[in-house]
Amino acid sequence: MTSYIPPSKNQSPYLPFGDQRGAQFYGKDILSVNQFSRHDIEYIFGVAKEMREMVTRIGTFDLLKGKILANLFYEPSTRTSSSFTSAMERLGGSVIPINEVRYSSVSKGESLPDTVRTLECYADVIVIRHPEMGSAALAAKYASKPIINAGDGVGEHPTQALLDLFTIVSELGKVDELTITMLGDLKYGRTVHSLSRLLTLFKVKLNYVSPEILRMPPEIITELKSKGMVQAEYNTLDPVISKTDVLYVTRVQKERFENQDDYESVKGTFVITPEVMDQAKDKMIVMHPLPRVGEIAMEVDDDPRAAYFRQMESGLYVRMALLAMVLGKA
Ligand code: NCD
Repeated sequence: MTSYIPPSKNQSPYLPFGDQRGAQFYGKDILSVNQFSRHDIEYIFGVAKEMREMVTRIGTFDLLKGKILANLFYEPSTRTSSSFTSAMERLGGSVIPINEVRYSSVSKGESLPDTVRTLECYADVIVIRHPEMGSAALAAKYASKPIINAGDGVGEHPTQALLDLFTIVSELGKVDELTITMLGDLKYGRTVHSLSRLLTLFKVKLNYVSPEILRMPPEIITELKSKGMVQAEYNTLDPVISKTDVLYVTRVQKERFENQDDYESVKGTFVITPEVMDQAKDKMIVMHPLPRVGEIAMEVDDDPRAAYFRQMESGLYVRMALLAMVLGKA
């Protein structure tokens, strides 16, 4: 009897001839935005647009019928976990949800490598969120099925960055030449760590506005500078608000502070109100990965420039595209 040899990472069994661009993602992990080229992004967004169209027209279809996703969340999540669940189910697949690790063998002291090697016996792809930086890469080292990083501590959140970029393109029609201002907790916010890195593929200007103790980590600034990114740091929004095309607001990441007094000293430093919006361009968009805890006043929600709820919806289409791609069906 010949033993089964799985296709190598670059061979999709579903795309033997024809367009092979998606095939390069087959069986691959998604760990960091640094793995993507501009060409990859265009391809992913093309698939995401098709997913949007299909969801609008028929809701659920059978592209991933028979496939199983394990959603392994060691940290709280509403949007990321439920959008991955929805993405898988809209593609006809199913989900093993492990949101409460305290009820799983993790609470018995099982290691991450053992947990992922267990889950891959039952699932075709594993989405993981974990409080430690590098945890998704560690999981990928031990798993042979694709691992998708849904946030590794203060490290990265690559699928969020892709959906953020997809939102910018959907809202403003382009990325090049934009001024993007990131505001809030730039030290601990993994979404801005990933998005700023992803933006090095484009010709943009990045402004960082934060309290002193929450500045963008110097190693990220250096990494981006070496790739030619134009960056500037501020401690108030005033000098940049009127020149900003995308205002990316973040939550102060309370759970990451070693000293809660430090958190108390910076929480509520920045609040986007209708008065702040009065100073902004008519076409500026406000984004936020959510959850918000007071950084954007609810009175801003009705402003057509408030894009954060539309941004959340983008997450579904981008994650559908990524799942289809890593499972060799896009
Ligand atoms: C973000 C996260 O988990 O990093 N949330 C999300 O995935 N939409 C941002 C946050 O928690 O502040």
